[in-house]
Amino acid sequence: MTTPIRFELIKTCRQTGARLGILHTPHGSFETPMFMPVGTLATVKTLSPEELKTMGAGVILSNTYHLWLRPGHDIVAEAGGLHAFMNWDRGILTDSGGFQVFSLSEFRRIEEEGVYFRNHLNGDKLFLSPEKAVEIQNALGADIIMAFDECPPYPATYEYMKQSIERTSRWAERCLKAHRRPNEQGLFGIVQGGEYEDLRRQSARDLVSLDFPGYAVGGLSVGEPKEVMNRVLEFTTPLLPADKPRYLMGVGSPDSLIDGAIRGIDMFDCVLPTRIGRNGTVMTSEGRVVIKNAQYARDFSPLDPNCDCYTCRNYTRAYIRHLIKCDETFGIRLTSYHNVYFLIKLMEQVRQAIREDRLADFREEFFERYGFNKP
Ligand code: GUN
Ligand code: ZN
Repeated sequence: MTTPIRFELIKTCRQTGARLGILHTPHGSFETPMFMPVGTLATVKTLSPEELKTMGAGVILSNTYHLWLRPGHDIVAEAGGLHAFMNWDRGILTDSGGFQVFSLSEFRRIEEEGVYFRNHLNGDKLFLSPEKAVEIQNALGADIIMAFDECPPYPATYEYMKQSIERTSRWAERCLKAHRRPNEQGLFGIVQGGEYEDLRRQSARDLVSLDFPGYAVGGLSVGEPKEVMNRVLEFTTPLLPADKPRYLMGVGSPDSLIDGAIRGIDMFDCVLPTRIGRNGTVMTSEGRVVIKNAQYARDFSPLDPNCDCYTCRNYTRAYIRHLIKCDETFGIRLTSYHNVYFLIKLMEQVRQAIREDRLADFREEFFERYGFNKP
């Protein structure tokens, strides 16, 4: 069978084992490790597709659950699919809705058949299953679609986690059977298992035997300490096929991007740059800056002295602080632009460091400057 998603491994960093690769999709080929900005409702909040392309974004993420409720996957399909609907001609990945059901809905009942829950907007009763999640994703038409999984909260007991991953494996098989566009959309499996090594192993074994064109590591960045995430990645990524892409879901802090790449992750997504941008926080080469703080009222320097993005080339901290304090929408456009650019450029630097076998050195320098090494 031909797969629409192919991963080409270019080299591994001799200092860390991190992978430099190319992800080939029906909408272009993109270098990895990569960061995927999140466009939950078919828009990366405040940013236009043209702006995202100028920054060098390759794949963006959108959400099955949200687009199912509004405007409805039938309307997106009628528009010609998500790419045409939102005017984005590079890659798109849709998350399956599994995670959103668990993070947004108060009432839910998980059964073998699927999940019963309430609409987070109006309280209506809803039901999502592996078949339904794939049907919606087939209609949306993203290049990469995700299996419908359960992302259990942290911490979960061993007993709960075991029955959860076994159900998630059965759901993954049902997703594959329900997939109607396997030549156009690559369906990725999601490894779960919390912090339990033998459960991650069991979950990975189940999913790898189903032969997906790519694998995600799910159930991380759900409140566990960073050391736990790093340890889980250390024993999980070696269980995944070297010739397939590996995607760490929902992770986007600069330290975790670098530490994930070092542990063999190729793809990341997170709302972090746009979410913190909207409340006036920016990531800079010297650490986080909360632009509303009084200390920036007369600071006529750019957000980041080492950044050459549109925001940093043209606007000052004092001006952006003023806009955000006055709730002017241009302010959050400028901070969002800078933050997304910052992570895309960070991944470019990570790739260059892999090319030159010096990612451990890069990590050390970056952490020192950013302030991650402070006690
Ligand atoms: N986003 C962040 N974590 C997860 C996860 O475990 N599963 C899914 N489907 N999406 C996620
Ligand atoms: Zn900038």
